[in-house]
Amino acid sequence: MHDYKAAANALENKTILITGAGDGIGRVAALTYAKHGATVILLGKTTQKLECVYDEIVNLGYPKPAIVPLDMRGATKQNYRDLAATIEQQFGKLDGLLNNASILGSLGPLEHFCVSTFENIMKVNVTAQAMITKYMFPLLRKSPSASVVFTSSGVGRQGREFWGPYAISKFATEGMMQTWAAEVGKTNIRINCINPGATRTSMRASAFPGEDKNTLKTAEELMPTYLYLMSESSNDVNGQSIDAQPK
Ligand SMILES: NC(=O)c1ccc[n+]([C@@H]2O[C@H](COP(=O)([O-])OP(=O)(O)OC[C@H]3O[C@@H](n4cnc5c(N)ncnc54)[C@H](OP(=O)(O)O)[C@@H]3O)[C@@H](O)[C@H]2O)c1
Repeated sequence: MHDYKAAANALENKTILITGAGDGIGRVAALTYAKHGATVILLGKTTQKLECVYDEIVNLGYPKPAIVPLDMRGATKQNYRDLAATIEQQFGKLDGLLNNASILGSLGPLEHFCVSTFENIMKVNVTAQAMITKYMFPLLRKSPSASVVFTSSGVGRQGREFWGPYAISKFATEGMMQTWAAEVGKTNIRINCINPGATRTSMRASAFPGEDKNTLKTAEELMPTYLYLMSESSNDVNGQSIDAQPK
């Protein structure tokens, strides 16, 4: 799947919701899915960033996207209910959900973690991902073949010192994906995790400020795996945690 080559129209007639679509990996995933024919719904915190991605997609002649400015830290059940109602009205179904938005917080010894930072990280990285998935579920059921992709991390599979609440949130993400995948079993919905690996984004730069970014993969280089998981080629893949960068 790392060298997966999607047909130009692999995502045609699909509607895909991407969280954190204004920057980093989410932005590139949105552009890539749109390039392959999907109508993308761009959800993120900063409206201006979403508008830039919107303009890029329109200027490239891809299907017209939609924008949902939403701070997932404070988002309520009603926000997600309203979002589901709007998607249902405009598109009738949802074929893909890329749960990508996350925050890093600050790195340091767990002994000294800040409780409010911990709570914010859990809200954005875990609770909000669970909520959006729950409220999108009825729309995913209406798709002939729907894919939910959570975003994990290497520090969500093997504990590592100083990665604190972020690492704990990513262990929770892996557990959430496994639980959900076991419940959906063999249905029209598949649920998997992707671990991007070290990638040239602002989140990575804040975790490793002294690192030479030219040594890192770009988000564009990860896209074969992101495309694979959203395309019909992965219809039989469920409950897997997949590395976007081969070891
Ligand atoms: N980059 C890596 O090396 C790496 C490695 C392993 C895993 N990951 C995971 O990959 C995913 C993408 O990471 P990235 O490196 O692309 O990060 P990034 O460049 O920091 O982008 C994160 C995105 O999430 C959005 N976001 C943050 N808080 C939000 C909130 N409260 N509500 C709505 N949207 C919010 C941001 O929107 P704003 O810009 O508007 O704040 C931004 O679009 C994350 O889940 C991350 O944990 C990344």
